Amino acid sequence: MKTIVVYYGYGDHTRMIAEKIQKELSCDILEIKPKVPYSTDYQTVVAETENNLEERDKREIEEININIEEYDKIIIGTPVWWYTITPPMRTFLNQTDFTGKKVYAFATNAGWLGETFTEIKELVGNVESSLSIKFSTDSKENKLITKEKEIDEWINQIKIEK
Ligand SMILES: Cc1cc2nc3c(=O)[nH]c(=O)nc-3n(C[C@H](O)[C@H](O)[C@H](O)COP(=O)(O)O)c2cc1C
Repeated sequence: MKTIVVYYGYGDHTRMIAEKIQKELSCDILEIKPKVPYSTDYQTVVAETENNLEERDKREIEEININIEEYDKIIIGTPVWWYTITPPMRTFLNQTDFTGKKVYAFATNAGWLGETFTEIKELVGNVESSLSIKFSTDSKENKLITKEKEIDEWINQIKIEK
């Protein structure tokens, strides 16, 4: 079974979890990058992406130099933006054929998941399991709220599934 974790992150949370998965599953990793990077100013990104359907559905991403077809298990990771998935992840899911793959999804967030997993399911087809990974946003530390054990168990389940 060949496995890859594919993620988009604006800050470091999603990358941190994706790298943990990569390490624990000894799998490949792919970072999705928007063709035009987002502003480095957090509040600008928050404002620009609110109620912006053009942005939501049309964000272009850099070309992917990995053949996704080769993989049996695909784990996708995205932050939650405005109660759903991020535009770069939406573009990736739209352009990828997941037929015959086992897909798993995680979303880092601050507690407001909204339509995130429903939308991933709609774009992917079937999702084996999904995990919400919550971080606190009330300090600069961005502390992990979801228990490490819960994350480890989720990753372990992916590992043993045939
Ligand atoms: C533009 C924007 C919109 C966000 N909207 C939500 C939201 O609707 N619900 C939520 O729980 N968190 C929201 N957040 C917080 C992020 O989901 C959370 O901090 C995430 O862990 C960031 O991951 P990253 O560091 O990998 O980018 C938003 C953050 C940004 C930048």
